[in-house]
Amino acid sequence: MECLPGFREFYPEPLPHKDAWSADARQHIFDTWRSTARRYGFREFDGPPLEPLDLYTAKSGAEIVGQLFNFVDKGERAVSMRPEMTPTVARMVAAAERAYKKPIKWFSIPQLFRYEKQQKGRLREHFQLNCDIFGEADLGADAEIVALLIDTLRALGLTEDDFVIRLSSRQAWQRFFASNNGKPDQEYEFYQVIDKVERETPEVSSARLKLLGIEYAAVQDFIRAGEPTPELAILLENLKARGLGAFVKVDYYVIRGLDYYTGVVFEAFDRKGEFRAIAGGGRYDQLVKLLSQGKVDLPALGFGMGDVVLLELLKARGKLPKFTAGVDVVVLVEEESLRASSLALVQALRDAGRVVEYSLTPAKSDKQFKRAIELAARFTARVEPDLDGTKQVRLKNISTRSETIGDLSAAIAATA
Ligand code: HAM
Repeated sequence: MECLPGFREFYPEPLPHKDAWSADARQHIFDTWRSTARRYGFREFDGPPLEPLDLYTAKSGAEIVGQLFNFVDKGERAVSMRPEMTPTVARMVAAAERAYKKPIKWFSIPQLFRYEKQQKGRLREHFQLNCDIFGEADLGADAEIVALLIDTLRALGLTEDDFVIRLSSRQAWQRFFASNNGKPDQEYEFYQVIDKVERETPEVSSARLKLLGIEYAAVQDFIRAGEPTPELAILLENLKARGLGAFVKVDYYVIRGLDYYTGVVFEAFDRKGEFRAIAGGGRYDQLVKLLSQGKVDLPALGFGMGDVVLLELLKARGKLPKFTAGVDVVVLVEEESLRASSLALVQALRDAGRVVEYSLTPAKSDKQFKRAIELAARFTARVEPDLDGTKQVRLKNISTRSETIGDLSAAIAATA
């Protein structure tokens, strides 16, 4: 029995084969995501993995709705596995915003499900860091979100040579559409064409644009000029002041496929352009109002960063650390008569917070030592025969080969 296509199994390292997914690498990414979000003052939240279908049909847009893992549950409810976190967090904030000081800054690491065609960088489940700010309309919040995105990637060891944030603006495209006589009811359709323009042939895009009354050449000229709008200029200044100017560029190819964005939008890509987007986000000032039927009106913005492309990139650029079992001490039980006192030593070291391994069953000394080497343990420890009634611990530092004998508290201190 194999797992379903597009789903993953995560193994501890060393991995059983080169295509296996690493549980250690995933944890490394999650830990870095959490610590960076916390450095920016974001608080962690979570929501349900299964949601009412309506939550997504309201405003996520046709593409994502076409990829839903949806079904009718045993209570006859139309439900869907969550394909993204934004509608959930917008609903949660609308329901509880009075209890929180503004701006509300929250993050989460949900597993998301999209019934996509499986391909490089795209699976049917992925984990996504979501960082969002609610209740702040000023562009200072947009800059803060982009800075957090940059710092999250920097914290994983990536530099300005590895990735770039492509900044764009829905308003810029809105103005372009209006000044090119676009019909207001076709605006979203227009965004969908722009979203695909980079990957589509000029013929296909040109034909689609023509149906909307827009010239392909005008679109190309607009993108090529790349003139920052006043709001993008403010954003760029803010990031420059932090020393992060080299990580961003204005790029109107980006518009974002999701329906709810209203202002600044952006995507993170690897510099060489080998991979799909690492992250994407932007401002969505109307979604909270829409999902709360007009009861709560809060500006909002944020981004989502997936683990799939990120892991491919970290691997390709050699930015993943070497993962080991992280064992501090292997307690050697060389004589079965010492097993009881060895178990007491194991327990005392674990109580002190050390990661401790030992042989569960009788085993030859050299086999136990070999296992300590395989586990890349820092120390071996064994109970010294109890001649004068005081228990002693013989500790060996595996890398320096030096040995010490002392009491339990000395062993705890030496293995810190
Ligand atoms: P998104 O662009 O759909 O945005 O997804 C964000 C990132 O998640 C993508 O750049 C990609 O790295 C990853 N991702 C998406 N789908 C897949 C997939 N099928 N397999 C692997 N990775 C995937 C959103 O989801 C927005 N809700 C983000 C957001 C938060 N906007 C504001 N706040």
